Amino acid sequence: MPTTSTPAIKIIPSVLPADFARLGDECRALEQAGVDRIQFDVMDGRFVPNLTFGPDVIASVRPAVSVPFEAHLMIEQPDHLIGGFIDAGCGLIIVHEETCAHLHRTLALIKDLGASAAVALNPHTPIDRVAHVLDLLDMVLVMTVNPGFGGQQYIASMEPKVRAMRELLDTAEHWIDLEVDGGISDATVEGAARAGANVLISGSWLFRHADGLAAAVSELRTLATAAYAQR
Ligand code: DX5
Repeated sequence: MPTTSTPAIKIIPSVLPADFARLGDECRALEQAGVDRIQFDVMDGRFVPNLTFGPDVIASVRPAVSVPFEAHLMIEQPDHLIGGFIDAGCGLIIVHEETCAHLHRTLALIKDLGASAAVALNPHTPIDRVAHVLDLLDMVLVMTVNPGFGGQQYIASMEPKVRAMRELLDTAEHWIDLEVDGGISDATVEGAARAGANVLISGSWLFRHADGLAAAVSELRTLATAAYAQR
C-alpha cells in the first residue's frame, strides 16, 4: 500500500547507555524529553555477546512513566519469554528473524497476546526473509550495526537495504513502520530517513548530547522529518 501521507517520525531511545542504578529516573527524563517510546535492549549472551536484563527489570520501571515500551529481543528462542515481556508492560515486541525457526508462528503469538509485532534483521540478512509475514507486522527493524553493544559505527551500506525494505513494506495492505537501530546521530539520521526509516533508535548520541535529552530528541526529529520528506 503506497502511502501518500508522510508517516509520523518516531524518536526512540535505547536505554543501553542509561544509568541502570537510576533506571526509573532515566525513563522519567526520557519521557519528559518527548520521546515516542522507550526501547529496552534485551540480550542473552548467546545470540549476541552481551547480557542485559529480563522482564522483571522492565516491570520495575513500568509504573514510573506512561510512555510506551518496546522490547528488542536479541535472544535465542524468544517464544517462551514473549509473554513475560508483554506482561512487564512492553506493547511492542521485536524478535530477530535469525532466532525464529517459525517466524510466522512467533509473530502470531505476539499478536494473539495483544501486543504489536516487529521483526529485526541483522545487517547480513536479506529483506525477503520477511516477505511472507507482512500481514502480521506492525514494524520492521533494519539493524545498522551488528547487535550487542551501543556506541558502534553506523553501517551506511545498509541505506540501500532500508530503501528496498520500504518498497517491500509498501506492498502490504496496511502501513508498516520501518525502524533503524545503531549509530544513529545528527551525522547519520538524515541518510537513514532519506532511505525510508521513519522510526529512529538512538542511544549513545542521544544520552551524550551536550544540550541534554530534550534538545537531542528535538534535533533528531527535525533532521529526520526534513530528510524523510526529501524521499
Ligand atoms: C545494538 C543496540 C544498539 C543500541 C543503540 O545491539 O541495540 O544499537 O540500541 O546504540 P547506539 O545508538 O549507541 O549506537
